Amino acid sequence: MFSSKRSLLRGLGALSLVASLGCWEQIDDGQWFPQMKRQPAVQAFEDVGLEDGVAAFTTPEGAVPVGWNAYPDVANLPFAEQEALQNPVPATLASLKRGEELYQRTCATCHGPTGAGDGPVAGPPFGTGPFGLVLPIGGPTSVARNLTDGHIYTTISIGRGRMPQYGRIAPEERWHVVNYVRELNGQGGNQ
Ligand code: HEC
Repeated sequence: MFSSKRSLLRGLGALSLVASLGCWEQIDDGQWFPQMKRQPAVQAFEDVGLEDGVAAFTTPEGAVPVGWNAYPDVANLPFAEQEALQNPVPATLASLKRGEELYQRTCATCHGPTGAGDGPVAGPPFGTGPFGLVLPIGGPTSVARNLTDGHIYTTISIGRGRMPQYGRIAPEERWHVVNYVRELNGQGGNQ
């Protein structure tokens, strides 16, 4: 009875020794389980090296952002090349549908649901037209009619004048918006 109790204790002792040896390498610098802390993530208040107030993050080598294609950064292109960018996305029904969705979600607040420049934030005191806040990009007074696809794409990508950029729309999706703006101008199809 006694001996079996003792062997049980011995067994438990051996087990806990093995278990604690397993944990040994987890103890590092007096800290328990520091792996979660020592990950590549930026720690609170860590100095990441600011360049012009912007953190100089670099993606680890070989990391590929999911769902993004390596598109040329239009901001670095000369103006003439921005203007001449070719629309690689045919204006199919599916493209126009997606373009409409994104346009109504992103652009209509300013440019209005049909592009007339009468979105809710374009009302008084800002107004539309050359001296107002928002330019019409659809309908009879549209300024977009004579703009190239590349110009509209660049406007979305990096903004223009008083318009902020909408780079949050994925590059390939911006062409759907371009196609939809063409549609608002009665210019169905690529230009
Ligand atoms: C916050 C308001 C706002 C939103 C949202 C907005 N725009 Fe604009 N947009 C403007 C203003 C203001 C101008 C006039 C810019 C200028 O000339 O100073 C403009 C001008 C334009 C022009 C004409 C550029 C030119 O060279 O004359 C196009 C094209 C355009 N926007 C497309 C879009 C598209 C597409 C979206 C959605 C992705 C969008 N805008 C979202 C405010 C907005």
